[in-house]
Amino acid sequence: MNIVLLGAPGAGKGTQAAKLVEKYQLPHISTGDMLRAAVKAGTPLGVKAKSFMDAGELVPDDVIIGLVTERLQDADAAQGFILDGFPRTSIQAVALDSELSRLGRPLDAALLIDVDFEVIVARLTSRRMCEVCGYIGTAADAVCPKCGGAMYQREDDKESVVRNRLNVYETSTAPLIDYYRGCDLLVTIDGDRDVALVFADVQKSLNLS
Ligand code: AP5
Repeated sequence: MNIVLLGAPGAGKGTQAAKLVEKYQLPHISTGDMLRAAVKAGTPLGVKAKSFMDAGELVPDDVIIGLVTERLQDADAAQGFILDGFPRTSIQAVALDSELSRLGRPLDAALLIDVDFEVIVARLTSRRMCEVCGYIGTAADAVCPKCGGAMYQREDDKESVVRNRLNVYETSTAPLIDYYRGCDLLVTIDGDRDVALVFADVQKSLNLS
């Protein structure tokens, strides 16, 4: 199963991807996670990406397309994949189609997780992450409930940056909704419900049980 997860920042793509990974053992290819790992490791890619990410802007297409194209060559991706946070521009979508057609592995679905922007602002500004194990919690977690590690707020989860990310989404990424509708691959899921209910719809839409 080859899936693209679409949706605004904070719509719940990562949350639903984690559930798909747990249940169906599909590789999760998250460009945000890949970039954050590169920033943490201080690689040339991380150094280049950091200022774009901190400002809520998109990292240049050529950098991201190279990263994903390379990742899709890995053996595990031949059994299927969940792309989370890619594509995010029309140029990325066309590049993905061309790479998947070269590999003979077309997309099965583009799942749009749809959530109102004000709900998203509330979700993201209260999100906190554990700097040790990556656990995702809220501002109510003084320390990580899983490992006791320190919790921090992502630079791009501050309100002004969240609002810029939503503007960037509207301008650059939302047009992909029509792109995938035109390819007859689009499935829209109401993401403003309990995580388990959203996941039940995700499974149903993919004919998974
Ligand atoms: P990335 O990490 O992809 O950020 P994003 O899309 O903005 O994703 P988020 O992780 O914020 O949101 P999500 O939809 O995954 O939601 P989540 O499940 O975490 O990208 C970061 C940056 O990297 C970009 O801004 C850009 O600079 C760069 N980048 C990445 N990919 C790129 C690309 N292709 N091209 C160019 N640049 C790129 O959930 C969010 C919160 O809501 C959590 O706290 C969660 O617990 C909560 N939540 C989730 N579901 C629910 C629910 N149903 N009900 C209540 N709360 C919920």
